[in-house]
Amino acid sequence: MNIILLGPPGAGKGTQASRLEREHGMVQLSTGDMLRAAVAAGTPVGMKAKAVMDAGGLVSDEIVNAILSDRLDADDARSGFTLDGYPRTQVQAEALDAMLAAKGMKLDHVIELAVDEEALVDRITGRFTCCVCGEGYHDRYKQPKVAGTCDVCGSHDFKRRPDDNAATVRTRMAEYRAKTAPILPYYDARGLVARVDGMAAMADVNAAIEAVLQARIL
Ligand code: AP5
Repeated sequence: MNIILLGPPGAGKGTQASRLEREHGMVQLSTGDMLRAAVAAGTPVGMKAKAVMDAGGLVSDEIVNAILSDRLDADDARSGFTLDGYPRTQVQAEALDAMLAAKGMKLDHVIELAVDEEALVDRITGRFTCCVCGEGYHDRYKQPKVAGTCDVCGSHDFKRRPDDNAATVRTRMAEYRAKTAPILPYYDARGLVARVDGMAAMADVNAAIEAVLQARIL
C-alpha cells in the first residue's frame, strides 16, 4: 500500500510513518529526513537547502521532486511506502502523479492528520530524537522508559532539530496553510482522502490509521 500523510509540522506524520514502517514494512519516505541528510553530508543540494530549512520556508520544488524521484527507484519502495512531508505544493502533487505513473505505481490513500495548530508548538518544541537509531521522543508525551537511554538501541545520545523553535515553527505552519493545505481538494476529488484526529492520544491515532488501511484491504 502506498499512502501520503498530510498535516502541519508536529501533526505526527513522522511518528506514524515510522510506526507503519516497523509494523507493516511500508518504507518511510521523509523528504525532511532526506534534506537533513544532504545538509549533514554537505552536498550541493544540502548547501542550498540549509538556509531555507533553518528559516522554516519550503525548499524548491525542483530539488525536492528530484530527490523523491530517485528515492522511489530504490527496491524497497516497491513493497509499499508512506510519504511523510511530501507533496507540499500543487506542483509537487502533480509531479508525484507523473512519477508514480512513469514507475507503474499508484496511491491508495491520503491521510490528513487534523490538528489544532496552537497545541503543535508545544509538541514540536518538546521533541527530541535518538542520534543513533532516530527513534522520536517528547519531553512530556513520550519519554524514554529509562531516563537518558534510548528504548530501541540503548544509546545515550539525543538531539533536537535547529528548526524546532517557536518562531520557526510558526513560519512552517504558515507555509503549510498557504501552500500545502490547498492541495487536499486535488486528492479529495479522487476520493482518496481520509481524515484522522491527530490531536487524539497516540494509541488512538494509530488505531484510526489502521482502520483506514484495513478498510482498503477488506
Ligand atoms: P519535515 O522534516 O517534513 O518537518 P515538518 O513537516 O515540519 O514536520 P515535523 O517533522 O516537524 O512533524 P511531524 O508531523 O513529523 O511530527 P512528529 O511525528 O515528529 O520538514 C522540515 C523542513 O524541510 C521543512 O520546513 C522544509 O524546509 C523542508 N522540506 C521537507 N519536505 C519538503 C518538501 N516536500 N518541499 C519543500 N521543502 C521541504 O511529532 C511531533 C512530536 O509530537 C513528537 O515529539 C511526537 O512524539 C509527538 N506526538 C506525535 N503524535 C502525538 C500524539 N498523538 N499525541 C501527543 N504527542 C504526539
